Amino acid sequence: MREDFLWGGASAANQYEGGYQEGGRGLSINDVEQGASHGQSRIIHDCIDEKCYYPSHQATDFYHHYQEDIALLAEMGFRCYRMSICWSRIYPHGDDEIPNEEGLQFYDRVFDELLKYEIEPIVTLHHFEMPLALVKKYGGWRNRKMIDLSVRYAKTVMERYQNKVKYWITFNEINSLFIAEVPWHQAGIIYQEGENKTDVMFQAAHYQLVASAKTIIEGRKINSQFQFGNMILYNCCYAMTCHPLDQMMLHDKLLPIYYFSDVQIRGKYTNTCFSYQKRMNAHFDIEEGDLEILRNGVIDFYSFSYYSSLVEGREIEQSADGNLLDGGKNPYLETTQWGWQIDPLGLRISLNLIYDRYQIPLFVSENGLGAVDEFKNNTVYDNYRIDYLRQHIQALIAAIEEDFIDCFGYTMWSPIDIISAGTGEMKKRYGFVYVDYDDLGQGSGQRYKKQSFSWYQKVVQTNGKEI
Ligand code: BG6
Repeated sequence: MREDFLWGGASAANQYEGGYQEGGRGLSINDVEQGASHGQSRIIHDCIDEKCYYPSHQATDFYHHYQEDIALLAEMGFRCYRMSICWSRIYPHGDDEIPNEEGLQFYDRVFDELLKYEIEPIVTLHHFEMPLALVKKYGGWRNRKMIDLSVRYAKTVMERYQNKVKYWITFNEINSLFIAEVPWHQAGIIYQEGENKTDVMFQAAHYQLVASAKTIIEGRKINSQFQFGNMILYNCCYAMTCHPLDQMMLHDKLLPIYYFSDVQIRGKYTNTCFSYQKRMNAHFDIEEGDLEILRNGVIDFYSFSYYSSLVEGREIEQSADGNLLDGGKNPYLETTQWGWQIDPLGLRISLNLIYDRYQIPLFVSENGLGAVDEFKNNTVYDNYRIDYLRQHIQALIAAIEEDFIDCFGYTMWSPIDIISAGTGEMKKRYGFVYVDYDDLGQGSGQRYKKQSFSWYQKVVQTNGKEI
C-alpha cells in the first residue's frame, strides 16, 4: 500500500449536520422529508408541518459537535474526511444575490479543525440536497437555470476554501437519477402526471453533467492544483446464468452507470450513452456550447460507493434489495438486516472493471454496514461491522497489491452515526461512534466509541497491515 494512502470516512451534511435553522441557513429539500421504516418510502411534504418529525432538522448534530467529532476522527488517525457542503447554508434560497457569510464561516471552522489534525478534507458539492426554494421557483434540475446557479455556488466555495480544500467531488451518486423512482434527493424532481419521465430524467442528467464540467473548468481557474472527482453508485452485478441472453441483460444493466462516467471521463457522449438513450427512447436538448464544456471539464479521479452486489437475468425467482437498486438474489451471499447482499469480492471485481475501462486513479468514497446496534456498557460490540469492513478492506488491498489497481483512498461510510438517506432512520447505524439519538431524534446526542473504533484505528495506523 502506498504510504500516503488516504484512509478515512465519509458523511453528508443532510444526514449529519442538523442546525437546520441556524447561522442563516435556508431550507433544504431534505427538511420537508419525513422518515420511513424499511420497505416504505419517505414522504415529501410541500412545506414543514409542525406536527411531523423531519430527521434532517437535527440529524446527529454535527453543527454543534464538530470539534468533538473531528477529534474522534483524529484519534482514529484519519488521513482524510469526505463531507458535503449544504448549499442552502451558503445561498439560503439558491439564487440570493450574496452568499451567507455565517454559513461560509461555519465551514471555515470545520476545515480549520480538520487541518489542525492534518486531515485532508474531500468535499462533495452536491450530496442529495439543494435549497428548497429552487424547487419551488424553478422545478429543481428539470430547469436549465440550475446549471448557472449551481456553478455560482461552487465558485463561491471553491474561491473561499481554495487554500484549505484540494479534493472536490461534484455530484454524489450522479447516476442515482436514473435509478431512483423519485429523483428528489438527486435533482429535486417529483414527476408530474402525464409527463414523459424518461425525457425529464435525461434532460436533468444532461444539466448535471454540464454543471459538473463547468464547475471543474471554473475550479481549475481558481486553483490549478485542485483535483476533481465524480461519484458513481456502482452496481456490481452478476449474470444469473451463462446463457447469452442473461449476459446481454447484464451488459444492459451497466449502461446507465457508464453513461455518466463516460461523459465525465471521456468528455463526450459515447456509443454506450447513445445506446442507452436509444433503448430508453430518450430525447433531450443540448444547447450550443454544451459539448465543448463537457469536453473541457473532465474529472481527475473516479470515485464510487460500494455496498453490495446483485444478480441480473431472465428468470429471477427471488429479488434482493440494494442501495437504491434492486435485482436478483444471489444464493451464495449473506445479507444485511436491510437485505443488502454482502459481497467483499465484488468490490475487488468492481475495482478491476472500472480501472480496466478508464485507467484513471480510483477512490472508494463509500462502503459500510448499516445495522441495528445494541448499546451496552457505554459501547457497542459490533463485531459484525468489523467483519464486514475487514473483508472489504482486504479485497481492496488485494486489488491494489495483486491486481495493480491505482486506488489512492478509502472512506468508509460513516464514521459517526448519522441518519439513513434511504429511510431517515437512526437505527440503521454505520458508525464507529454511537450517537445517542433514536428514530424520533430523542436522546442526549452523546458520542460513545464502539468496538470497531479501535479496530479501524489500528488498520489506519498500520496502513492496512494489521486488520
Ligand atoms: C449512498 C449515499 O447511497 O448510500 C449515502 O451516498 C447513503 O447518502 C448511503 O447514506 C447508505 O444508504 P442508506 O439508505 O443506508 O443511508
